[in-house]
Amino acid sequence: MTTKLGASILTADFSRLGEQAREAIAAGADFIHLDVMDGRFVPHITIGPLVVAALRPIADEAGAPLDVHLMIENPEQHIPDFVEAGADIITIHIEASKNIKNTIQLIRRLNVRPGVTLRPNTPLRAIEEILPEVDLVLIMSVEPGYGGQSYLPSSTEKIAHLRRMLDERGLANVELEVDGGIKAHNIAEVAAAGASVIVVGSAVFNHAASVSDNIAALRRALG
Ligand code: DX5
Ligand code: ZN
Repeated sequence: MTTKLGASILTADFSRLGEQAREAIAAGADFIHLDVMDGRFVPHITIGPLVVAALRPIADEAGAPLDVHLMIENPEQHIPDFVEAGADIITIHIEASKNIKNTIQLIRRLNVRPGVTLRPNTPLRAIEEILPEVDLVLIMSVEPGYGGQSYLPSSTEKIAHLRRMLDERGLANVELEVDGGIKAHNIAEVAAAGASVIVVGSAVFNHAASVSDNIAALRRALG
């Protein structure tokens, strides 16, 4: 199974965001991950539908999906705007939605692929019931809210556990995405535990090396 690699733009240079997204896709990123924060579910405010819409033509050029990670309260209120803006995947937090099933169904009705995610301290049993309804489960391997944090070592067992749950329930086609603190030194561990989709932010967009060199190093580490 080939692991998909996504570039999180959270630490990109926003004064030349389009260029940075193009560079990441050209270097081999399979999709662009957008972190939406509302200053309520998490402390900071980041971006909204306008930025999703701005990247839509670039995603179309390259055939790379836009993966939108909503770290916001009452996501149901804003989902139509993100759909309109051109999101391909919308992932919501189990802790943020009052009626997770309705919200997931709303995303699907609007012809977007729904995903569910959970904070590092939220146990997998919280999402057990919703698994058959989603296209993607995102394991947060850092506390949501900031780029550039260190990978929480306990995530590896959580990924492996979710992989077993999906396989046992005949849901192996559900994507298992992991996000937070992933770098060249631990990406192979995350893939081996059972991730099918890996999101990388600060190890792609930083000042240490070019975006293409960074993506090449991550690919090499994946093997
Ligand atoms: C954290 C975000 C992540 C973050 C990943 O709330 O969901 O997508 O940008 O960045 P790194 O790879 O730097 O941890
Ligand atoms: Zn994210």
